Amino acid sequence: MLILFILPTLLLFLAWKKFKQPKPAKSIAGRHIVVTGGSSGIGKSVAVIAAQRGAHVTIIARNVDKLEEALIEIKKYCVNEEQMITKVSVDVANFEDIENNLCEIEEIVGPIYMLVNCAGMAICGRVEDFTKQQVKQLVDVNFLGSFYPVKAIVSKFKQRKEGIIVLTASQVALTGMYGYSVYSACKFALRGFAESLHMEVKNYNISVTLALPPDTDTPGFEIENKTKPVETKLISETGGLVKPEEVAKTLLDDALSGKFFSYVGFESYILTTLCVGMSPFASFLEVITQAVLLGPLRLVSAFYIMSFQNIVKKCHLERENKKED
Ligand SMILES: NC(=O)c1ccc[n+]([C@@H]2O[C@H](COP(=O)([O-])OP(=O)(O)OC[C@H]3O[C@@H](n4cnc5c(N)ncnc54)[C@H](OP(=O)(O)O)[C@@H]3O)[C@@H](O)[C@H]2O)c1
Ligand SMILES: *[C@@H]1O[C@H](CO)[C@@H](O)[C@H](O)[C@H]1NC(C)=O
Ligand SMILES: *[C@@H]1O[C@H](CO)[C@@H](O)[C@H](O)[C@H]1NC(C)=O
Repeated sequence: MLILFILPTLLLFLAWKKFKQPKPAKSIAGRHIVVTGGSSGIGKSVAVIAAQRGAHVTIIARNVDKLEEALIEIKKYCVNEEQMITKVSVDVANFEDIENNLCEIEEIVGPIYMLVNCAGMAICGRVEDFTKQQVKQLVDVNFLGSFYPVKAIVSKFKQRKEGIIVLTASQVALTGMYGYSVYSACKFALRGFAESLHMEVKNYNISVTLALPPDTDTPGFEIENKTKPVETKLISETGGLVKPEEVAKTLLDDALSGKFFSYVGFESYILTTLCVGMSPFASFLEVITQAVLLGPLRLVSAFYIMSFQNIVKKCHLERENKKED
C-alpha cells in the first residue's frame, strides 16, 4: 500500500524538479558574506564555497585556534587577490558583543550582503536528565545565537534595500523526536522566527531562508552522537549521513534564489512538504503540488510514527526486564 503513495510522490517530485523554473541565482562575487559557526562543519563548508565564488568572507566562532585553522583553509579557495577572508572570535549569544563586532567588520570589509547563521549545537537526552546549565546553553546558542546577529544587522539591510538572511534549523525543526526535547524546541523556535521575519522584511528586498539539514557528517554531529539515548540512535539510524559540502552548496543556492526552505534529499522533501503549514511559497505550482501530496503523505507519516513508537516501546520493555533481573 505504501508503494501506491510513494510512487506518485516520487514522480511528482521528479517532475517538479525538472519543470520548476529556477529563478536566476544572485551572484556573490565581490560581496561580503558573514558565516557564524564558520570554523567548523556546515558553516566552514559554506565559507569555502563562498570563497570559491569570489566573495569576501567573515567567519565567526569562539575558539581562536579553530578559527585560525579554518581561515587558512578557506583562503586556499579564493579565486582573486582582492578577496578578504576575516575571522572574528565572539559568542553569538551575546547581543552587545555581536553587534559591535558586526559594525567593526563592516567598516573593514564593507557592507554585509548575506548573513548565514550556522552556529549551533545539539545535546540529546531525556527531559529529566538535562541540567539547567545545558538547557540554557542550548537555548542561547541555537535560538538567541541566531536571533541576535539578525537583530544586529536587519535595520542596515532595510536601509540598503538588499540582503539575504539564512537561519540553520534542522529536520527536528519540523518534527519532535525522542531525545531532542530542548534542541528540537530551539529549532522549532527558529521556524517561527523565520516565518515572522520573512513577513517583516519582504518589502525591503530582503530574503529569508530556513535550512533544514538532515544528519550531516561534521565534528558537531560526532559530539551529538555521543549524547544520544539508544532510542534516538535506533530511530535516526534509518537515515544516512550527508556530507557538509552538499548541505552547504544547497543552502547557498537556495538562499541566492530566494527559496524559503532549504533541504537536501528525497526524505527531507517529503518531511518539508508534510510540514509545510502556513510557510511562504514561491510559485503556484509549488502550492498545487503540496496540496495534492499532503493527504497521502499524512498516511505515510503514520507508518513512520508507528515504527518509531515501536522502537521506543521495545527499548522500554528491555529496560523494564533488566530492572526485574
Ligand atoms: N551536523 C548535523 O547533523 C546537523 C543537522 C541539522 C542541523 N545542524 C545545524 O547546523 C549548524 C551547524 O552544525 P555543524 O554540525 O556544522 O556544527 P559544528 O561542526 O559543531 O560547528 C559549529 C560551529 O558553531 C560555532 N559555535 C558554537 N557555539 C557558538 C557560539 N556560542 N558563538 C559563536 N560560535 C559558536 C563553533 O565554533 P566554537 O565552538 O569555537 O564557537 C563551530 O564553528 C548548527 O546550527 C546545527 O544545529 C547540524
Ligand atoms: C534587490 O536586491 C538585489 C540583490 O540581492 C539587487 O540586485 C536589486 O537591485 C535589489 N532591488 C531593488 C529594487 O532594490
Ligand atoms: C555514533 O555512535 C555509535 C556508537 O554509540 C557508533 O556505532 C556510530 O558509528 C557513531 N556514528 C557516527 C557517525 O559517529
